[in-house]
Amino acid sequence: MTTARAHTNIALIKYWGKRDADLILPYTSSVSLTLADFYTDTRVEFDARLATDQFQLDGQAQSAAKLTRFLDLVRGQAGITTRARVTSTNHVPTAAGLASSASAYAALALAASHAAGLTLDDRALSRLARRGSGSAARSVFGGLAVWHRGTDDASSYAEPLPATTLPLRMVVVMVNAGPKPIGSRDLMANTVATSPYYPAWVTHNEAAATAMIQALAADDMPTIGHLTEQSAMQMHAAIMAADPAFTYFEPETLAVWQTVHRLRASGVPVYATMDAGPNVKLLTLAPHVATVCAALSPQFDQRVLVSAPGPAARVLED
Ligand code: PMV
Repeated sequence: MTTARAHTNIALIKYWGKRDADLILPYTSSVSLTLADFYTDTRVEFDARLATDQFQLDGQAQSAAKLTRFLDLVRGQAGITTRARVTSTNHVPTAAGLASSASAYAALALAASHAAGLTLDDRALSRLARRGSGSAARSVFGGLAVWHRGTDDASSYAEPLPATTLPLRMVVVMVNAGPKPIGSRDLMANTVATSPYYPAWVTHNEAAATAMIQALAADDMPTIGHLTEQSAMQMHAAIMAADPAFTYFEPETLAVWQTVHRLRASGVPVYATMDAGPNVKLLTLAPHVATVCAALSPQFDQRVLVSAPGPAARVLED
């Protein structure tokens, strides 16, 4: 039995689109920041008495179909057939719209591989987590990480980037905590299949990943922020241009973007990014968090969360 913890991550340079849906090989590399305050704890216990895998999330029994597909990969690597009891707790405020497959599959990959007797190095663990959800490949690592798109299963993995001296902070603005109208998996596939902007997205985003790694190494906040906004907006532009046309933007989403641009015009280093939902995540520096939160509070008051960079996935109990 093993319990592991993994933290969510927010992509500064996005992953959007699979070249291989089974192996989860992405069209572009991506760069992310793992967050301290949002994480998943998962306990895995292989038990020969079980006829099927059992899965409980936040105290509720769940269908185990996806879990079983993932555990089959672990069982295949470990040479076992034993079923498992999996208990998972999301330490992500449920209203944050962050409930993340990234922390979930990174925690599951670590706990399950450990409980099955495998000792995977970080690269092998990242490749395993990737098979659950692409963004989970990055949640194996703390702080900044790059997921190399690679060309096959062996070459598509994440690894940590050198720490920046910048005191990065992420301010999460909850625009709408309700269920998403469409999930990332389906919308990603449809963007790849139908958006005339998708090929341009791939070219620009891959170049942006390289530029981001350089900007992070140089502690160049204006370039880091600029590239962060570009990658998110270009991803959302590709989504809007898909058939059928769609957007996650809501009126309050744009209100946050406008606040960010107003703050920047007054000299505050704050930059916006968004994932597969209407909530906005703001990249800023620790000394500016209070100013950013004060600017948001009239409209968003109790709907703002702040996090510092967080640690790598780790085993809590074995
Ligand atoms: O790992 P998935 O399938 O949940 O995809 C995540 C995609 C984005 O969050 C929108 C971007 C990213 O790189 O995390």
